[in-house]
Amino acid sequence: MTEKVSALLNDQVNKEFYSAYLYLDFANYFTEKGLTGFANWYNVQAQEERDHAVLFMQYLQNNGEKVTLEGIAKPATESSDSMAVLKQALQHEKYVTGLINNIYHAASEDRDYRTLQFLDWFVKEQGEEEKNANDLIQKMDIFGSDPKGLYLLDQELAARVYAAPSLTL
Ligand code: FEO
Repeated sequence: MTEKVSALLNDQVNKEFYSAYLYLDFANYFTEKGLTGFANWYNVQAQEERDHAVLFMQYLQNNGEKVTLEGIAKPATESSDSMAVLKQALQHEKYVTGLINNIYHAASEDRDYRTLQFLDWFVKEQGEEEKNANDLIQKMDIFGSDPKGLYLLDQELAARVYAAPSLTL
C-alpha cells in the first residue's frame, strides 16, 4: 500500500468517527424536541458510523499499516429546525461519498486492487446512505407539517434497529 492511500484511509477513520459524533448530536437535538423516534434513527446511524471507522482501522491493520487516531471536531449541527438537520445529513453523506470516491481514485491510480475491493462495499453503502437521507427529507416534507403525520413518522423511525455491517474483514 502506498503512503498516500494509507494516509487517506487513516484520515477516513477520523471522518467516520466525526460522522458518528455529528449524528449523536442530531440524536440529542431530536431527544430535546421530544421526537424520540428521530433520535433513535440517528443513534442507530451513529452506531453504523462507528462501525465504518472500525472497518477502516481493521483494514489498515490487516495490511500492516499503523493507525493514528486524531482529535474529533466539535459537531456543527444546523439546528434552526428539524428539516435543516435532515438536509444537513444528506449534505454530509454526499461529502462522505466524495471522500470515498477520492480514496477510490487514489487506489485506482496505484493499481491497489485489494483496497479497491475493500472500498467497493463503501461505494454501495454510500448510495444507500444518500437514499435514506433523501427519503427522510421527502417524508418530512409530506407529513412533517401535520402533527398526526409527524407523530406517525416519528413512530416509524422509532422502529429502526441496529444491525452489524454486512462487511467483515
Ligand atoms: Fe460512513 Fe454515513 O457513511
